[in-house]
Amino acid sequence: MKFFIDTANLAHIKEAHDLGILDGVTTNPSLMAKEGIKGTQATLDHYKAICEIVDGDISAEVLSTDFDSMVEEGETLAALHPNIVVKVPMIKDGLKAIKYFSDKGIKTNCTLVFSAGQAILAAKAGATYVSPFLGRVDDIGWDGVQLIEQIANIYAIQGYETQILAASIRSSLHIVKCAEAGAHVCTCPLEPILGLLTHPLTASGLAKFVADAEKMKEIMQEQE
Ligand code: E4P
Repeated sequence: MKFFIDTANLAHIKEAHDLGILDGVTTNPSLMAKEGIKGTQATLDHYKAICEIVDGDISAEVLSTDFDSMVEEGETLAALHPNIVVKVPMIKDGLKAIKYFSDKGIKTNCTLVFSAGQAILAAKAGATYVSPFLGRVDDIGWDGVQLIEQIANIYAIQGYETQILAASIRSSLHIVKCAEAGAHVCTCPLEPILGLLTHPLTASGLAKFVADAEKMKEIMQEQE
């Protein structure tokens, strides 16, 4: 399973990249606005800055919701860098735009997916990635991980090549569950990724090893 970071924060992207396990980045208009990015040029410059940090797929979302404008925006975004993936919402015009981009060899990420039916349409249109939002599915009392499993089963049975990009991840446990459920990619903020590193037994075990290492150093010093 590939690891993408779901943020437009350059410091977080750099920190995840420096861990050596980062495969890509996803952004959305809310994450860009959170970083204070406004206007076309600033937006394009920000995506270029992300592409300079991470050598992997970078999802950049279109802001419009009609076919012609999505195509115009997507082509501008795709021209920025070969690693840009045009992120398109799962709506009727979005589906048409994904098919258009797919036919032109432009990578896409179909976003705001909440059902297996939507995921089937995204695959049929040739999306590179489909983004089921499992955290938001959990928020309304449904089972987000089960949705990932269902899509993974359907894609395997049908031989669809679209990659399942599990999104809206809220915890380290979500990441593990997505790996079990067959997601090809998980995208999440920095905290759940860092959370995978920690375990109380690792902390207590290391404290004991460090203390015993000190004793070993004392013994070695005495022997010298
Ligand atoms: C996916 O690509 C979205 O950017 C993101 O995962 C949404 O997450 P949220 O539900 O925490 O906003």
